[in-house]
Amino acid sequence: MRPTTAVPSPDQQPVTLELLAEKKRRGVPIVMVTAYDFPSAQMIEDSGVIDLVLAGDTGAEMVLGYDSTTPVSLDEMLVMTAAVRRGLHTPLLIGDLPFGSYESSDEQAVRTAHRLVKQGGADVVKLERAGASLSRVRAIVRAGIPVMGHLGLTPQTETALGGRRVQGRSAAKAGQLLADARALVDAGCFAIVFEAVPAVVATAVSARLPVPTIGIGAGAGTDGQVLVWHDLLGLYEWRPRFAKAYATLRPDISQALSSYASEVRSRSFPAPEHFYNIDANELREFFAELDE
Ligand code: KIV
Repeated sequence: MRPTTAVPSPDQQPVTLELLAEKKRRGVPIVMVTAYDFPSAQMIEDSGVIDLVLAGDTGAEMVLGYDSTTPVSLDEMLVMTAAVRRGLHTPLLIGDLPFGSYESSDEQAVRTAHRLVKQGGADVVKLERAGASLSRVRAIVRAGIPVMGHLGLTPQTETALGGRRVQGRSAAKAGQLLADARALVDAGCFAIVFEAVPAVVATAVSARLPVPTIGIGAGAGTDGQVLVWHDLLGLYEWRPRFAKAYATLRPDISQALSSYASEVRSRSFPAPEHFYNIDANELREFFAELDE
């Protein structure tokens, strides 16, 4: 039988917000990864080494084939988040508010966050930017759902940022990043992602914040790191400069497909160990009927 839900390991306690805050205090790096489906969530659970899992809107690009994160709908995010939830028990699961699902009003933001928690099974949610998002953070936190912020390169508004480019490269922009991060903390964020920010800026900002920071393309001075599942495993040929592939699975998969196709064509797959059998008497009777 294929296992259908995550089975908690007796020695693995679910990751809590207190544990993350404690890791920041003690300088213990926090490990986060994205996931978009059940098997990857199961592998993460089985690894026993991941603190945070983001069912991120990068799923739009990584698994749904959109050319950016903006087209993904809340319903699509809910399907991916719920699939991750079914494979995950120990790491904290972060649901990602997609573009267009929280900007209009605080009420819209709370409704979306509730759906990600109730239907998607997320423990907490993440949204992008400061500015108008500050009021959304306050409203969602007031509604009882912890919120992670996301600053620097915020892909949902990459067009307004002039494309996917490094943020916080001038003194003024770096200062604004710190101000935005402080505002998100004041609004109630329990942690903040910094994406594509100069390492020294992210380190300096991180050291001045009371909550954990998670970096992606933000150097080694944040309190933790996040990588996109497909980048980490080398499932695409291209990945951003800041991402490291710890495996190169795309050529392995390509090789597996070639081997399968060639064994089907040479009739060496399936082999007897893959066959189902029938009782010899039943078979005799079957053939006798065929010959009648
Ligand atoms: O959606 C996502 O995967 C993200 C990470 C890049 C932090 O927001």
